[in-house]
Amino acid sequence: MDGNGRWAKKRLLPRAAGHKEGVSSLKVVLKACAEFGVKYLTVYAFSTENWGRPKDEVDFLMNLFALSIDREIDELVKSGVRLQFLGRIHQFSPQLQTKMSESMEKTKAGDRITLNVMVNYGGRAELVDAVNEIAERRTPNAEHRIDEKEIQAHLYTRGMPDPDLLIRTASEMRVSNFLLWQIAYAEIYVTPALWPDFRREQLIEAIEAYQKRERRFGKVL
Ligand code: IPE
Ligand code: MG
Repeated sequence: MDGNGRWAKKRLLPRAAGHKEGVSSLKVVLKACAEFGVKYLTVYAFSTENWGRPKDEVDFLMNLFALSIDREIDELVKSGVRLQFLGRIHQFSPQLQTKMSESMEKTKAGDRITLNVMVNYGGRAELVDAVNEIAERRTPNAEHRIDEKEIQAHLYTRGMPDPDLLIRTASEMRVSNFLLWQIAYAEIYVTPALWPDFRREQLIEAIEAYQKRERRFGKVL
């Protein structure tokens, strides 16, 4: 969800204002996705690299996560959203961890759409965590080779389908350590829209662009 800082700068506002407005975009996009029958929406909210930002910005984001959970939880439950926070959650404050687990518990029966909010997430970190989990659970004499299915089964996104469409806002042409394994065959759509400006109309444009793509998965059709 890139471009919050630029959105704020354009308006001579503090970066925090961009992050706040970004939450509104997420609400709009989530609602539209649910309406369009999208079953999984995965957003990149905080990367393992984002800890390197100024302390007041990091603190603001942590508070924004907590506040947004409090504000939105009832509505999420009501609208059948299953909310998941995925990433190295154990590095957050105990209070935020509790809030995140409680919100996941409260929404776990949601069957309209799954919203994965990736926090303290890195694609490489996820693969490292998956490999370690496999190694820890391996019996001493196990000789079988680890295969793709086994790695997939230990990712944070285990049990979920790979994304069909990857949307990059704010004109960035990088993957930035997002879902490295899962996006192997994802269609990439880059838009100049800054995340706080990315709303229903921009989502429809992205989906329409996606519908024009020819997906071959490495084969000749
Ligand atoms: C949001 O956008 C990303 C988060 C970590 C929440 P940015 O803060 O990266 O915005 P730009 O890139 O400065 O515009
Ligand atoms: Mg950025």
